[in-house]
Amino acid sequence: MDTFFYGPSWNYVGLDCEIPEPGSFKRSWIGERQVVVVRDKDGSIVVHENRCAHRGARFCWNNKGKVDSFTCPYHQWNFALNGKLQGVPLKRGALGKGGMPSDFDATQHGLKSLRVHVEGGSIWATFDPNAPSFAEYCGTQMHEYVQRLFNGRPLKLLGYNRQFIPSNWKMYIENLKDPYHATLLHSFLITFGLWRADTQSESIPTEGGKHGIMISRNVGKKESAATSEIKRFKGKLELLDMDSVTPRQEFDDGKVVGLTLFPSVVLHQQANTLGMRQIIRRASTASSSRGRTTAMPTKTLK
Ligand code: FES
Ligand SMILES: [Fe+2]
Repeated sequence: MDTFFYGPSWNYVGLDCEIPEPGSFKRSWIGERQVVVVRDKDGSIVVHENRCAHRGARFCWNNKGKVDSFTCPYHQWNFALNGKLQGVPLKRGALGKGGMPSDFDATQHGLKSLRVHVEGGSIWATFDPNAPSFAEYCGTQMHEYVQRLFNGRPLKLLGYNRQFIPSNWKMYIENLKDPYHATLLHSFLITFGLWRADTQSESIPTEGGKHGIMISRNVGKKESAATSEIKRFKGKLELLDMDSVTPRQEFDDGKVVGLTLFPSVVLHQQANTLGMRQIIRRASTASSSRGRTTAMPTKTLK
């Protein structure tokens, strides 16, 4: 965990559109550590570890909201949006006794803030101040695809979908580098031609296999020589609402692309949807470890 999540890696933590105004925040995760993604008063985005500078309590207990500042529930230390310590109850003690030492320096007791990178509406953070730049961490090819997806157009959050996956977290990060299963297993993708073996597709491992780019093209609902071999192709399957399986041309290249960015996220563009599948690792036991993904489908606005 120290190497992959808390080391020199860039982790997806949220979308710009989730924290629209100064004071808006969302709680997120990097590995097993909670972080709070906040829009500061000047509109910039800051990310703090959700750990009070006093005795380490979680100062934020809501997944989303809007605040002027953060007050830790334990001893009510108060922190500005940018993480600066700005209030300590009973700082001078009571009845002339106790309190903080006279040389107590509030500037040395702010929240632990992470390095942040914003790429066209997506927010990334790293615990390591010496991590390479986000672009370097991605590598040229992956970075181009991230910029294609997050090209600055406004995004609208449609909602959240959470799934518990009883497996090692690495199982999920490898899943989208495996197009083989998708073209055999997912009736939905196969039948409606969203992801199929008989279309022009590519799976490109990058940065030595750390990241992965999976490219395909929507072909619509049609049978071909390949579908006769695919048991899960269901020619009779229809939907009352075809909207989610009706591709819309959004990019000139006509591609649909899934990006696996190690270690924390799969960025999934399909038909007219965009989903961030964030991996949130849960505590492990001696015999198993569990992972959780959070998909956040968003709709692009023209
Ligand atoms: S632990 Fe947060 S104020 Fe004491
Ligand atoms: Fe799948």
